[in-house]
Formats: sequence, C-alpha cells, structure tokens
Amino acid sequence: MPTTPVRIAVLASGRGSNLAALLAARERGELSAEFVLVGSDKASAGALRLAEAANIPTLALDPRSYPDRRAFDLDLFTRIAASGADLLVLAGFMRILDGEALTPWIGRMINIHPSLLPKYRGLHTHRRALEAGDVEHGASVHFVTAELDGGPVIAQAQLAIGADDDEQQLAQRLLPLEHRLLPAVVNLLASQRLQWDGQAPRFDGQPLSAPLVLGVDGLRLAE
Ligand code: GRF
Repeated sequence: MPTTPVRIAVLASGRGSNLAALLAARERGELSAEFVLVGSDKASAGALRLAEAANIPTLALDPRSYPDRRAFDLDLFTRIAASGADLLVLAGFMRILDGEALTPWIGRMINIHPSLLPKYRGLHTHRRALEAGDVEHGASVHFVTAELDGGPVIAQAQLAIGADDDEQQLAQRLLPLEHRLLPAVVNLLASQRLQWDGQAPRFDGQPLSAPLVLGVDGLRLAE
C-alpha cells in the first residue's frame, strides 16, 4: 500500500457534483488523496467555486485564447504536470482532448461517462438510452485514451430504466450512483489495487477482463 496520498488533479466544466463527491469521500476518511488542482475551461464552472471553498488551487483556461485545440491541451497538461498530480480525473470535462497531447497521461487519467460504455459515447446519453428502448442504463469510469469515451472501462454502475423515466429524471437518478462510483474507482487507484500495465487495467494483479460492478458494498468483480 502506498504511504503517501495520491495527488489528484480534477478537470470539470460544470457544476462539479462529482468533484463534490470526491471531496466528501476524502472528508469521511474514505479516500487517501491530496487534491492539488481543479481546472476548467469555463471560468464560471461551479467546480471551481467548490475547489476554492476547499482551498484547492484552481486553474481556468479559456480555449478561445489559443490558436487551436492542441495548443490549449498542451498548455493545460503542462500546468497539470506542474501541479505534481499523479492522477488526473475528468469529472464532467466537456471537451474532446487532442490525442497527441494526452498521450503522456494514458494510464494516469480517468473519466466518468453517463452510459454503460461501449454504448452511447459522446453526448445526450440518457436520451439515447430512452430512445433505444433500453431497460438498463448506467455510468462508466474508464481510462482515457485518444478514442473519445473509448478507453478501457474500469467500473460501471447500473440502474433499471423505469416506465416513467424521462431524460431529466434518468440523469437525476443516475447521479447518486456516479457519486459512489467515481470515489470508489479513485480509491482503488490510490491504493494501487487497480493499475495500468501499459496496455490495459489490472485489478489485484490480474487483467481486468470485464468492468467492475458497483454493488451495495462497493465495487466487485463482474460475475
Ligand atoms: C456527469 O453526469 C458526468 O457523468 C458527465 O458530466 C456530468 C458532470 O456532472 N461526464 P457534475 O459537473 O459532476 O455535476
């Protein structure tokens, strides 16, 4: 087990409820982590206000001040590296990342996505699950690679779609599961039970052949 807490940087574009869940897990003593930076592409992001309130350094970079995506991403990743982060968590960061710029972070960067990947990469996941007539929906945490929402999935939380669910209600019902899923995965990375072997995730030293599943007691291997 590592003796020093993992140093985490978080990127978020919006309200930051997943960041809040990570901070709450640390407050409860369930996450051995130091938050070294919260960054955003939106100066108005709620996530930045949460970080300020928690005395975490913040960074707001405006993509419009850069000539192109790669220039923005390279500057962003340079600043994240300078923060000393070991792990980068994308928690509602609503930007496509440049494949070359992100390469040094492969294996050290995770994202939470509101669908049961590989279903519904990209936007409007709740609506697309409803339109497809799915009976199940969920959220995934995956390692980030150059393929949008396409990196190896680490863990998933599932819920049954109800007859009354609309897009908003489904999103609202899924969120509390996301708030358990993300800290649970970060915890596994912090304790090094989950590792990246250069190609794929390993869990307790074994290749992870299917995503871990969030149950009432936390994450478990899929049956
Ligand atoms: C979450 O639904 C997350 O899965 C998605 O963006 C949303 C962010 O919400 N990637 P919040 O800003 O953490 O409240």
